[in-house]
Parts: sequence; C-alpha cells; structure tokens
Amino acid sequence: MSFEIKYKDVMGRIGILQTPHGNIKTPALMPVIHPGKQTLDVKKYGAELVITNAYIMYKNEELKEKVLEEGVHSFIDFPGPIITDSGSFQLSVYGDIDVTNTEIIEFQEAIGTDIGTSLDIPTPPFVTRERAEKDLEITLERAHQAIEVRKDLMLNSVVQGSTFKDLRSKCADEIGKLDFEVYPIGAVVPLMESYKYSELVDVVMASVTHLPDSKPRHLMGAGHPMVFALAVAMGCDLFDSAAYILYAKDDRFLMPSGTYKLQNLVEMPCSCPVCTSYTPDDLRAMKKDERMRLIAQHNLHVSFAEIRTIKQAIVDGNLMELVEQRCRAHPYLLDALRNLKNYTSEFERYDPSSKKSAFFYSGPESLARPEIKRHLDKVERIPKKSNLVLIPRSRKPYSKNIREFGEFYMKDSEEVQNMDRIWDDVQIAVVDVPFGVIPLEIDEVYPLAQNESPLKNDLDALQFVRTHVEDYMENFEHVIINKKVLKTFGIGCDGFDQDEIDSTIDSEFDPSKYGFLEVDVDPSIVRAVDDEEKIRCIADYQFGAGSGDSLFRGDIKIVKSRKTGKIRHVYDGETLIATLRASDSVFVLDREGARRLHSHLEYPKKRVGVNSDAEPFAREGKSIFAKFVIDCDIDIKANDEVLIVNENDELLAFGKAILCGHEIMDFKTGQAVKTRKGGL
Ligand code: GUN
Ligand code: ZN
Repeated sequence: MSFEIKYKDVMGRIGILQTPHGNIKTPALMPVIHPGKQTLDVKKYGAELVITNAYIMYKNEELKEKVLEEGVHSFIDFPGPIITDSGSFQLSVYGDIDVTNTEIIEFQEAIGTDIGTSLDIPTPPFVTRERAEKDLEITLERAHQAIEVRKDLMLNSVVQGSTFKDLRSKCADEIGKLDFEVYPIGAVVPLMESYKYSELVDVVMASVTHLPDSKPRHLMGAGHPMVFALAVAMGCDLFDSAAYILYAKDDRFLMPSGTYKLQNLVEMPCSCPVCTSYTPDDLRAMKKDERMRLIAQHNLHVSFAEIRTIKQAIVDGNLMELVEQRCRAHPYLLDALRNLKNYTSEFERYDPSSKKSAFFYSGPESLARPEIKRHLDKVERIPKKSNLVLIPRSRKPYSKNIREFGEFYMKDSEEVQNMDRIWDDVQIAVVDVPFGVIPLEIDEVYPLAQNESPLKNDLDALQFVRTHVEDYMENFEHVIINKKVLKTFGIGCDGFDQDEIDSTIDSEFDPSKYGFLEVDVDPSIVRAVDDEEKIRCIADYQFGAGSGDSLFRGDIKIVKSRKTGKIRHVYDGETLIATLRASDSVFVLDREGARRLHSHLEYPKKRVGVNSDAEPFAREGKSIFAKFVIDCDIDIKANDEVLIVNENDELLAFGKAILCGHEIMDFKTGQAVKTRKGGL
C-alpha cells in the first residue's frame, strides 16, 4: 500500500492511496456499511472505498460464519478497498464489549479486510487527565500488540488523548513511528455532536502536526459535509459517513451549509436527482422506508459533491476561501475558523508558495492566513534604503497605476535642510490591506497583486496593517507618508481607541497633531521603478537576502514582452539567467541562474539532496522521487524553485518542488521535485 500527494493547499492534499483493491483519490468519503443491513449501493454515488464494522460481524454467529467463508468484499458486495473498525465505538457507547484486541485483529485478517483497526479506547472530551492518560496507555499498548499479532493485515492506529493537546501529540508521535497504514483521529464525535468545533480544531491540529505527512489521516465519525472543508484544510484525508443514513432515518437533509428537516421544507434543498424528482410533499406522503432511502440518496449526493468541490479548491489554490465560506454556516464553525489563527505557523509550514487563484479576503479571520505572515517575514529580505515614502493603494499592480496623490507629510517635525538627499536614497512602498507595506519593486509578485480585499469599514484589517506599517517605519531615517495613508490607517494615532481611529478616519485630519510636517513630493520620484532594482528585489524576496545581487551580475540585459511590456527574461550577455513568470512574477531559473544561486546560498538553503542512485537521472533532467532524497532544506515550500544536488552538494539539476520540505523528507513514494533541467 502506498500514498502520494498530487496537489496541495493549506495543509490539505489531494493524494492517491494505492490498495490491493484499487487506487483511490483522497480526500475521500467512506460510507459506513452496516453488515447484513445495507440496501443502498453506495458505489453509484461515488464511493471508492467503504468502512464497515468487524465487531458487528464477529458478534453475530450467522454473519460471522458467512463473512469468514466468503470474505468481506463478497459479503458486503463491495469490490473496492474496505476498512473495518474494531468495535471501539460500541465500547464507547455501551461501555463494554466481549472481544479482545488480539481476537478482533485476527478476525479482521481472516475476513480479508484491506485495513483493520485495533481496539483503541475512545476517550471522550473533557474527562480528567488521569483517565485520559490511563486510557491512552491501553490504546498504545493495543496498537503495539496489533502490530505483533497481525500477519499481512494492514492497520489503522487511532489517535486518542481526549481534549488534552499534549496527550494527542504524544499519542501521534508514538504511533507515527510504527508501521501503520492510516492514522484515524478518534473520539471526536462528541465534539461534533455538541458543535464544539473550536475544540475540534485543537484536537485535530495537535494530532495532525505530530503524525507522519506520508500517511492518510481519517477524521473518525465525521460525516456531515459542513466540516469537510475545514478538516481537509487541517490535513485530514478520509471521512466516514454514517450520517447519510442516520440523518435520513430522522428525516433530515445534509447540506454543506447545515441541516434541513423535512417537516420544515417548502422547497427541496438542492439539485440532486432526488431533489429534482420529488417535492417535500411527495416525500412526506411516502412510507417511512421509501422516504428514508431517498433522503439517504440525497445525503450521499451532497456529501460526495462537497468532496469534489474541496478537491477542485485544492487544485485551484482557494481551499481557505472555501473554508471561510463554509465556516460562516454556523456561529460555532466561525469559532473554529477564528481558532485557526493560533495555528498560522503550522499552516505556513505546508502552504504552497504560489497558487493559481488570487487571495480573497473574506473578513478579519483572513488576517491569520499564512500568505500574510509569510509576506511580513519575506519583505524583510529586501535591502532597506535610508528613507521611505508610503503611498496609498491604486488599482493593482500599483506601480502601473500610480496617480497624483496630493499631500505628503514627513514624520517628526524637524526641518530637513536638503530634501534631495532624501530622494537619492528612498524606498517607495504602497500601504494596503491586508498585506501591509509593499515595496513597489515587488508589487506584482504573488500574492501582492493577486488579491482582492475591501479597504473600508474593517477596523481589524486597518489596525493590523497600521501595526505593521509602524513597525516597518522604525527601520528608516525619514518617513514620508501620503495623507490618504495617514488618514486611512490612523498612522501615528495613540493606541487603538475606536473613537479616535474613527475620528481620524472620518473627520478632518490634522497631521501636525500627530507630529507630521507637510512636504512636497515630486511625482516623478514615485513613478520611477528601476528595472534592475526590481529584478534584484524580486529575487531577494523569493530566494533570500542578497540573492538578487548574486544572480544578476555581469552584463545584465532585461528583455520585456513586446505585448505587455512586462519583464520576461534576464540575461548576462548572451546567457539566460532566469525568466520572470507572468502569472505570479516569480523567477523561474535557467542553468546559469541555478549555478549562481547554488554558489550564493549556503547549504542546505533551497537544496534537495539525492542519493547516488538518482544522480544520473537528475543529471538527465528526470524528475526526483521522494525515496531518493537524502536531505533537503526543511523550509522549502511546494512550488518553490529548488536546486537538486548530490551528497557532496554538487549541483545536478534544478526544478520546482511538488511538496514542502517536511513532506519531502517523510515520503518514500511519489514525486518530490519536477525537474526543469539537468545537465549542470
Ligand atoms: N468511530 C468513531 N470514533 C471512533 C474512535 O475513537 N475509535 C474507533 N475505533 N472508532 C471510532
Ligand atoms: Zn438533493
């Protein structure tokens, strides 16, 4: 069995899980099949794998005999991969079951399940620490025992630890080192049933961040499409749905935006075959069984549709936009969304460096997104001038749409004798929400041009940007600010008093009150972005401080697109160094660029090191598979330009990373780097 990642966004991934009964694409939803009772053919709705319960079959003599004889695939009539649960859930509901861990492992092996589960203890949320620790000890013991008693059976190992984050992490660390195929996160049903989604975020993040990246994670008992997008963004790959049938029994329709009760429906909620063939009155007039079947079908349609929507969002790079939409379906989901701000660093570790879609700001929660944190870190790589001029937003890209900006003010009222000395050494930057200070040289780089956000009436965003602008200003001798920027962001105002900011923004602004002196700014100063400076700043921003000077030396020639006037290629004499990609203004290296970056950046920066087996393939320009990687820069992000080296740090090739550094090191299957060129 193997797992590999094809696309990524946030901590979510589209993967391929190879099993003896076929390959499945993740994120995937596994309908729960009730052994002996199933009547719906879930394949028809898009199920590629299913989950069923070994304990129920084990307990019923008739079922047991039959499934042992014909195997589980024939018994439940499903040809694809089957996961079985162990009876732990029954243990959590009934408090007791009569089977041992060893017995249920051996039984799962005997019926030919694809992935079995040991008898973990589902410890409920908010129990005493003593109980959580005691239960966890048993869960871990049984996980080790499962590995010992199984022969060929592949296994789940469930993360437990109640709502204690450190216990979840400890459990994940320990089972993550053992040979398991899938890592479920257990005992979260009570959190979801009570809408404690914020606590769910804590539990999932504490688990996922300590599990191996190279194995799928299953959020156990998550069957409501409301939570799928959020869970995928946190790195969950598998869901199981008993909800489709349980809700149907109760005349309830699942939707990604919530649940509808048949008794309240005047209109059908969606456009699936059930909803377009029947009216709510039709359904109400039916016999219970028939109605339940139809609602279950709707529930399956909607759940699989949501999984498809999520996969498309991962490919497009707008999964977080989807999560932000979905989390507005319920106030407690909004609570969960807000809790994500405590995990920005974890998301940043996995989030690709460039995406197909623009960044859409949907509210103050978007301020915690990794793209913003990353920009605030990376902007520091650009060499600082002595002086700074801050101008307001215009249409993007800002540098192409500069207008007359009227009045400017200089911070600190002392008179400057020779203003020309200021203009000789000045950085011009736009101030905008939500990314803060954007030096004009990098204003076309993803996501600084590829984002949309309203400027007005969002105090959180204005305050957020103001804090960063004021920090940034500290680095300069003289700061000259356009009046509109001063007013909009209340720069120089004391504190964050709401009334003061409002009056600053709304009433006539008096710069002298805030210690600003009016100065004349020649508009030509603001207009000029030097091309050579621009390519150096972009390279510094992309690869690290000093990279621009190292890459672009010699007889620099900049070739622009005749159609758009944008910078396309940079040469030293006749030798191509790098090409600026039009869609995100990020440099794609050529051989000379790779050589120069390699000699500039210290090991292991931007390196992916391969073993000697892979060396000839790398030199030929073949793509790099994760299993050949022996070392890499852990800070690499998916879509980064990277240098492929051997164990002596000799440059072999260069390419685009498919995975982030942590994943490259953990995976043994699938591509790590799409090589652009070898022959170095
Ligand atoms: N189904 C839902 N939650 C759980 C759990 O914590 N453990 C197991 N084995 N199955 C579950
Ligand atoms: Zn429907």
